[in-house]
Amino acid sequence: KTYDVAVVGATGAVGEAMLSILEQRDFPVGKIYPLASSRSAGSTILFKNKPVVVEDLATFDFSKVQIGLFSAGGSVSAEYAPKAAAASCVVIDNTSHFRYDPNVPLVVPEVNPEKVADYTNCGIIANPNCSTIQMLVALKPFYDAVGISRINVATYQAVSGTGKDAINELASQTATLLNAKGAEAKVYPKQIAFNLLPQIDVFQENGYTKEEMKMVWETKKIFGDEGILVNPTCVRVPVFYGHSEAVHIETKEKITAAQAQELLKKAPGVVLLDEHQDGGYPTPVTEAAGEDPVYVGRVREDISCDRGLNLWVVADNVRKGAALNSVQIAEILIKDYI
Ligand code: A2P
Repeated sequence: KTYDVAVVGATGAVGEAMLSILEQRDFPVGKIYPLASSRSAGSTILFKNKPVVVEDLATFDFSKVQIGLFSAGGSVSAEYAPKAAAASCVVIDNTSHFRYDPNVPLVVPEVNPEKVADYTNCGIIANPNCSTIQMLVALKPFYDAVGISRINVATYQAVSGTGKDAINELASQTATLLNAKGAEAKVYPKQIAFNLLPQIDVFQENGYTKEEMKMVWETKKIFGDEGILVNPTCVRVPVFYGHSEAVHIETKEKITAAQAQELLKKAPGVVLLDEHQDGGYPTPVTEAAGEDPVYVGRVREDISCDRGLNLWVVADNVRKGAALNSVQIAEILIKDYI
């Protein structure tokens, strides 16, 4: 059996990764429909080595497909995801637009795959924020084994999370600065090359940024635990692909570093890389970029807190943080539901 699939935002950083992950995982695609704005409609992309014409989202008939993978921005999903769902296309939406709607399941396949069943509520499944996904894949074994009361996290996030324009901005600023010319900032409020910015997404009334609050809201929803406390600081760094996170948790029962490592070795979607020697830890460029797993290293007991555990968590934000997680949700959907 095959499924006809639309990829909305097919010319973007995440959309391109969605197409190549569908190919790599041999997802049973019948017809593929790459969709984008009228700006790129008519251009061609390659899917399974065959050219396919990009179509205009605005005029696409979603009754032609069973699954729609959306990653073209929140306002695009707000308008077109309900239309697609009304045409019986199951939408897997990578934007934040529907994530906090109680009717819309928010799914990380390694954490709460059973929630895919709730796609029947309104035909939409939300894909969580990239930083939340990799953190919860790494924390799931501890949540189940000893409970987690509080999470302190500082992120180091790659520019690809913002999209293609931001990837180009980091590249061009780097090139002009190496030629001793000034850097022009357009996508970000300040220079990103050779710098970092403690702001991701817009500021909220409480002084946190929206990216930080996404980590708070989404962790509670995915674990189904309103009581879990999350204290995030999100930082954009001049890395192209791969988000890193310094995660400090307080568990309900004590766990040693050795026990934590044993749990991580068995955890689905996780690769433990934790050697106490030079280079014995994961980094975005040398391990995560272009790969599927969530890499965990620097596992330590918190010397300032009795039930504290420290971890360093790295994953490809475009793959596990977005495109791969969406395709994994689609795999559950076709295996168990449609
Ligand atoms: P387009 O190439 O036609 O602009 P990124 O996140 O890398 O910036 O990519 C954004 C993706 O979302 C692109 O594929 C872009 O298509 C698509 N997109 C942006 N706005 C719209 C829109 N109004 N309708 C359809 N697709 C859109």
